[in-house]
Amino acid sequence: MDTIAPSGLQPEERASSCLQEDVPSDSSELVQKCLQQFKVTRKQLQQIQVSLLRSMEQALMEQNNPAPAVRMLPTYVGSTPHGTEQGDFLVLELGATGASLRVLWVTLTGTEEHRVEPRSQEFVIPQEVVLGSGQQLFDFAACCLSEFLDAHPVGNQDLKLGFSFSFPCHQTGLDKSTLISWTKGFKCSGVEGHDVVQLLRDAIQRQGTYNIDVVAVVNDTVGTMMGCELGAGPCEVGLIVDTGTNACYMEEARHVAALDEDRGRTCVSIEWGSFNDDGALGPVMTIFDHALDYESLNPGAQRFEKMIGGLYLGELVRLVLAHLAQHGVLFGGCTSPALLSRGSILLEHVVEMEDPFTGAAHVHAVLQDLDLSPQASDAELVQHVCAAVCTRAAQLCAAALAAVLSRLQHSREQQTLQVAVATGGQVFEVHPRFRSILKEMVMLLVPECDVSFIPAVDGGGQGVAMVTAVAARLAAHRHLLEETLAPFQLNCQQLIVVQAQMREAMIRGLQGEASSLRMLPTYVRATPDGSERGDFLALDLGGTNFRVLLVRVAKGSVQITNQVYSIPECVAQGSGQELFDHIVDCIVDFQQRQGLSGQSLPLGFTFSFPCKQLGLDQGILLNWTKGFNASGCEGQDVVCLLREAIGRRQAVELNVVAIVNDTVGTMMSCGYDDPHCEMGLIVGTGTNACYMEELRNVASVAGDSGYMCINMEWGAFGDDGSLSMLSTCFDASVDQASINPGKQRFEKMISGMYLGEIVRHILLHLTSLGVLFQGQQTQCLQTRDIFKTKFLSEIESDSLALRQVRAILEDLGLTLTSDDALMVLEVCQAVSRRAAQLCGAGVAAVVEKIRENRGLEELTVSVGVDGTLYKLHPHFSSLVSATVRKLAPHCTVTFLQSEDGSGKGAALVTAVACRLAQTTRV
Ligand code: BG6
Ligand code: GLC
Ligand code: GLC
Repeated sequence: MDTIAPSGLQPEERASSCLQEDVPSDSSELVQKCLQQFKVTRKQLQQIQVSLLRSMEQALMEQNNPAPAVRMLPTYVGSTPHGTEQGDFLVLELGATGASLRVLWVTLTGTEEHRVEPRSQEFVIPQEVVLGSGQQLFDFAACCLSEFLDAHPVGNQDLKLGFSFSFPCHQTGLDKSTLISWTKGFKCSGVEGHDVVQLLRDAIQRQGTYNIDVVAVVNDTVGTMMGCELGAGPCEVGLIVDTGTNACYMEEARHVAALDEDRGRTCVSIEWGSFNDDGALGPVMTIFDHALDYESLNPGAQRFEKMIGGLYLGELVRLVLAHLAQHGVLFGGCTSPALLSRGSILLEHVVEMEDPFTGAAHVHAVLQDLDLSPQASDAELVQHVCAAVCTRAAQLCAAALAAVLSRLQHSREQQTLQVAVATGGQVFEVHPRFRSILKEMVMLLVPECDVSFIPAVDGGGQGVAMVTAVAARLAAHRHLLEETLAPFQLNCQQLIVVQAQMREAMIRGLQGEASSLRMLPTYVRATPDGSERGDFLALDLGGTNFRVLLVRVAKGSVQITNQVYSIPECVAQGSGQELFDHIVDCIVDFQQRQGLSGQSLPLGFTFSFPCKQLGLDQGILLNWTKGFNASGCEGQDVVCLLREAIGRRQAVELNVVAIVNDTVGTMMSCGYDDPHCEMGLIVGTGTNACYMEELRNVASVAGDSGYMCINMEWGAFGDDGSLSMLSTCFDASVDQASINPGKQRFEKMISGMYLGEIVRHILLHLTSLGVLFQGQQTQCLQTRDIFKTKFLSEIESDSLALRQVRAILEDLGLTLTSDDALMVLEVCQAVSRRAAQLCGAGVAAVVEKIRENRGLEELTVSVGVDGTLYKLHPHFSSLVSATVRKLAPHCTVTFLQSEDGSGKGAALVTAVACRLAQTTRV
């Protein structure tokens, strides 16, 4: 194969030289051979098309290949423009046409009829900047922006900027984009691997003259596609043949592995300039392509672009002319230093020389400028060379575009495809034949596609403005979201205050003073010691499920058999008699099923509501909480109500020995295995805690030694108004709509019965602001309790991708975008995080009090915990622990999850009571 010496590497050839004697005998054969290399057959074009398509599909599927043949970069542009975008935008274009930079002021009117011509200014970037440091480049850009704004004053408005940056970038958002590598003539240090938006923002700040918000960054292909005047259908492909070449198109999001998205479309920048399949490209690469690549700033890279982009066409022509001159076929065998210097023939020279009418004259002018003296016969040959290089470029571009169209056709599963391609770039603008060759070849390669080519508006500036308008809207939405969620973000100081208030309320409650914490004595004086034995019945009322249990406590083992019964809302909120009759019915059913009828086993009753106890088997219901509101019960002894119901059902005999709160049952249940367990915590439908207090601190119970378990009823904490500084308008709405307004304010910020409702109210608010669901209020979201707290647990589960979050919400009849899904996730996180932190502040107050009671430097204590929210939420428990660690640094707190529910604990309390009763009888 013929080889060509890279001119830049051979200084001796730079002197003007003539090789008169070396004129080959068959010069026309050499010319033919040379031009022949630029001919690409239809078959070769088809091979390129197929191979590029394969590379595109492969890159779409793979996420982590560091060097794919083409990059297929998601651009975060999710839809083609509506045409309703409006506002004024600054646009900065860098890297499209040569070493220049363009600033535009674009006004979008929101209607197509009123187009306002943009104002623009072009700046030439000095070569030392193009090859200098990144800081210099971005400072230069910031300086151009200031200069533009000085020259075109735009008044005192917020300046929103869209940054058209035409190099391969990994985008992670509309305003976050990391440069992968420079292409074309650029090579500034310290930019690859960095976020170019941040670099621009920093430079604007250094410049300090204007306050400009960089809102979006786009590739030139995307700007071109987005700015395309709306035709009959949307334009879904953007094609650039400028200094470099590239295309973007709307891909089905589900095919893009790098995105976690299964709906809609997303714009992908192919970066086909880097396409380098040796199998397909090898046969069409000429010795001139190899030489050009070798001499370029990025040898081995962008080899496809180097056969098509405007930066390279002049250079290819120059290399061919130099080769022919050196072989004596042109210019009488003379070369000149200029002809042998890189970059001396530019695209515009090629275009001028190729012109069939005025070309010959231009050939003379251009060559004379290169210190060559063309002979009359040279002109025609030079024109052939120009045409061969440009024709090949257009044909290769057609093969690549054909691959994109096949991809579109395939992913849309359509036999025929009607598609509009927005075109932009200098080569289209200046080369008269490029577009027609391209079109013709595309028709041959993908005959089933009906393609219309639409020239870009304002060199893509309008499209960049449109993306910027969308990004600005999203940024405004984000701001509103953050503002809405800010009151849910509690800092350490606020949590310390909650802890201190809780502590004060505990002390006042214990002393019988006015306090939102009732601090109810439970008459449980010790945690289990393992000596408990016997068979017991237990009831568990007040959580998600009502249960009847048979608990068999033997040496070293506890066996539980249980049955869940439902309590319909009408019963929970009907009359007390109905409720207790229903409970007894369930017990009878259970006894029958278990073959226990006729036996009078001792019964422990977990009753998870605030009760004033005067003994273990006496509990006066102070008030209902959570979803219960049965009439005629408040102020009554619950054990009596149960005994009366048993009486009404004459057949059964029951021996109610103890009534316990679920917190106490949980503590006792966990205490059976761990003697350090001195606190019980519930975070389920409701929330509450109990702990072992020194009897001497409990004003309402006689005695100065020993302990008593205190049911704090912390759900009511703050009912005296002390939490009002933390309460948001959403908490107020949830409270107002509840069956007990003004009550259980702490519980309403923490527990499962309410978190979903808080989220729902926030979502309603964000929808009314237009931030979510495109501002569409749905009937579904207006429905109380539609947003279950279990959704928070599911949505926040790390293993669920956003698309599944969406599926959960769509089940509720909500139609949402991926931005919506992300925002809903953030709302859930803010609400559950606050709940966990408040709960942690409460636990910290309790364990610190135990530590101080005992005068200990350090306390080691376990907390028995139960409740669906605590158990099912993926982060709740760790957030509670983290908060406790921060707020109670001298306590080592272990959280034990209760496995068997509180029924086991109720049975253990019953066992102790039975043992004590026996001892007193003896
Ligand atoms: C259960 C206990 O496991 O948890 C109940 O046995 C308790 O006594 C309940 O009330 C609390 O959780 P939830 O989520 O059911 O309210
Ligand atoms: C180069 C860039 C690409 C750009 C194209 C056209 O190929 O890498 O991002 O779109 O040139 O300017
Ligand atoms: C409510 C009840 C309380 C119970 C808690 C957890 O706050 O008032 O007694 O412990 O819910 O179920």
